[in-house]
Amino acid sequence: MEYGPAPESTKEAQAWLDQRGRKFGLFIDNAWTEAGETFASTNPADGKELAQLTQANADDVDRAVQAARRAQPAWAALGGPARARIMYAIARLMQKHARLFAVLETLDNGKTIRETRDADLPLVARHFYHHAGWAQLLDEEFPGHRAVGVVGQIVPWNFPLLMLAWKIAPAMAAGNTIVFKPAEFTPLTALLFAEICVQAGVPAGVVNIVTGDGRTGEAIVKHEGIDKLAFTGSTEVGRLIREATAGSGKKLSLELGGKSPYIVFEDADIDAAVEGLVDSIWFNQGQVCCAGSRLLVQESVEERFLKKLKSRMDNLRLGSPLDKSMDIGALVDPIQRQRIHGLVEAARAEGCEVYQPSACEIPAEGSWFPPTLITGASTSAAVAQAEIFGPVLVAMSFRTPAEAVQLANNTVYGLAACVWSENISLALDVAPQIKAGVVWINTANQFDAACGFGGYKESGYGREGGREGMHEYLVPVSEDARPALPAVAKAAAAKPAAASSDPFAIDRTAKLYIGGKQARPDGAYSRAIHGADGTFLGEIGEGSRKDIRNAVEAAHKASGWTKATAHNRAQVLYYIAENLAARGKEFADRIAAQTGSKNAEKEVHASIERLFYWAAWADKYDGAAHQPPMHGITVALNEAVGVIGIVCPNENPLLGFISLVAPAIAVGNRVVAVPSEAHPLSATDLYQVFDTSDLPGGVVNIVTGSADELARTLASHSDIDAVWRHDGSAAGCAEVEKLSAGSLKRTWTGGGKGRDWFSTQQAAGRTVLAHATQVKNIWIPYGV
Ligand code: NAI
Repeated sequence: MEYGPAPESTKEAQAWLDQRGRKFGLFIDNAWTEAGETFASTNPADGKELAQLTQANADDVDRAVQAARRAQPAWAALGGPARARIMYAIARLMQKHARLFAVLETLDNGKTIRETRDADLPLVARHFYHHAGWAQLLDEEFPGHRAVGVVGQIVPWNFPLLMLAWKIAPAMAAGNTIVFKPAEFTPLTALLFAEICVQAGVPAGVVNIVTGDGRTGEAIVKHEGIDKLAFTGSTEVGRLIREATAGSGKKLSLELGGKSPYIVFEDADIDAAVEGLVDSIWFNQGQVCCAGSRLLVQESVEERFLKKLKSRMDNLRLGSPLDKSMDIGALVDPIQRQRIHGLVEAARAEGCEVYQPSACEIPAEGSWFPPTLITGASTSAAVAQAEIFGPVLVAMSFRTPAEAVQLANNTVYGLAACVWSENISLALDVAPQIKAGVVWINTANQFDAACGFGGYKESGYGREGGREGMHEYLVPVSEDARPALPAVAKAAAAKPAAASSDPFAIDRTAKLYIGGKQARPDGAYSRAIHGADGTFLGEIGEGSRKDIRNAVEAAHKASGWTKATAHNRAQVLYYIAENLAARGKEFADRIAAQTGSKNAEKEVHASIERLFYWAAWADKYDGAAHQPPMHGITVALNEAVGVIGIVCPNENPLLGFISLVAPAIAVGNRVVAVPSEAHPLSATDLYQVFDTSDLPGGVVNIVTGSADELARTLASHSDIDAVWRHDGSAAGCAEVEKLSAGSLKRTWTGGGKGRDWFSTQQAAGRTVLAHATQVKNIWIPYGV
């Protein structure tokens, strides 16, 4: 049977472009600027120019930021319910003009009308409705929080309007004002959206849209008037943004690349899994950050699966994206085609087998790439590791579930994964073992505004959608009450160690604590620690790069802690509290001797209290069961981040240490802690407390020494998942943030401000737990 052409009309979209003279300025303060220096946006399906857009420069970005800044207080003061009304109006208008938006998106991007009409637009409207709801409930559901302020948002070209909705809806709901930049390849629907904002009654300055390429993006990133940046795009640019914002105090969320595994077990419904794979890798020509681009199929069904897959590929239709019966449209730009072509040809040259349907005709005009299957690639081949961002699937096989998990996690990315098996126990056993922010069981590429989306590892951090997505645009008001950095008390002149009159006195240099054992520092150096009055108190080991490496290794080996039950972790924390209490006097004396504090007893009491507090939390930081519009549930799990490097504050040497280490381990992380550089003995005294409290070796590792040097090593270590630095120094915190860009680890720093460690508002609560965890959403459809 032959398909007849079924083109969607472009009349309305062309008329919209004509009416605007096919030339656009910027949308600032609800008004259009004159077009400045311009660039063209073309239709990828035929290469024809659609319109000229303004390349916004730094002055333009500054004007947009100023407009947003002026508008922000009133927008926040308007209140959630009033903002909700405006957002409902946007949602309704998007639905009313859905056809125009869908056609314009297809013209600008090259993706099929089937996708823009049936997937992108409904999800866009859903996002505005859902977040209008959050605006309505803001005071009730997020008490003690305020909007971040002015946010800069930069999106890529693969889902231009959907990414706009994911970014703008939560930001507006929370009371922020926005400077938004669409990708240079696909700016048109954002400009149509600007008109919708005016119609919906969005006040001037709340949404500002600036067009341009990476230079405009850079101007947004560097602008001092921006309080938060939200970026979706390549890992490479994500890294640049992390570096550029280091030390600026800007909140940051990054949604970056992926190389997501698509795992098919032998007991899967093979036909359904093939269909899911079509959606997973050929949806939007594979230009999807969470595309299932690595097929892992169990060896016993590999041949059968690949045969079915090839015959399905033979039936995929590639052609005019405006034709309603096409499966595959055009790539966004010839530059993408060249990139994909290069990777595929390199694989062919390495001896891989490349399958492309012979009947797939490539149109003469525009940029296209046929659906492609690569087999025979090694796990380290470029096609198996790099994000191809095209309709190219790389297939491999596995024998056992353990091997499937190992292959799935063999990537620097961690955005998404699919697991296909009719055995629910197997699927639910595998899902938590995969290091990715989203796992789809027996389904693929499902999204909903109620379910957070975002990555692990080099796929970035932060979530979009759901409650966790709202937190990206809010700040706890307790952060505003944080004190200035405590002044470091000038230590009295060091007195020489007095000769001991004790005939049994021996040298008591505190060692490091690695893997549950006391260890001499690799360099065999030590430093003297003096009390507030200059009295010599003891020596500590001078930890080095090598010691940190050993500690990280020990922390990785202690992975059993992450798998232990939360009840079990709570028990250990209670036990630590009890054992600390038994030696309370000794710890108080030690604090007093080191710091000269009159509050030493109070600090020990608060530390014990804090341990009980985090023990109480250990089994209560539950996830959620979302009910997106499908027959099934999405389970949001709060998972441990992994191995966290923690540089503790200088002040409050016991309470500061406990306040950071206890929540991290309560939720299953393992820690490499650097205690207060000035007063490290309170932490080294804890070794015996840990040893007698059933804390497994390697869960908490302690390396004493120079905070700057050790923080630097932690932040550049590729096997650490997060670094927290709270010992003050603004420059030190900035350095940690900058170095973290290498492996895109998460950071939580004091940013050069102090923190009242006695205050539960400032030093405890869900905000701390959010730093210690990452949300994984597991989609579980059901039904027979
Ligand atoms: P990109 O990351 O360069 O562009 C994304 C957005 O960032 C665009 O709006 C761009 O103008 C802006 N941008 C570029 N340089 C910037 C800078 N220095 N500072 C601030 N903003 C900047 O992605 P590109 O070049 O369009 O695509 C290249 C590759 O990146 C793709 O082939 C794909 O592998 C990957 N990519 C991944 C995406 C994802 O969602 N995971 C999305 C887009 C691209």
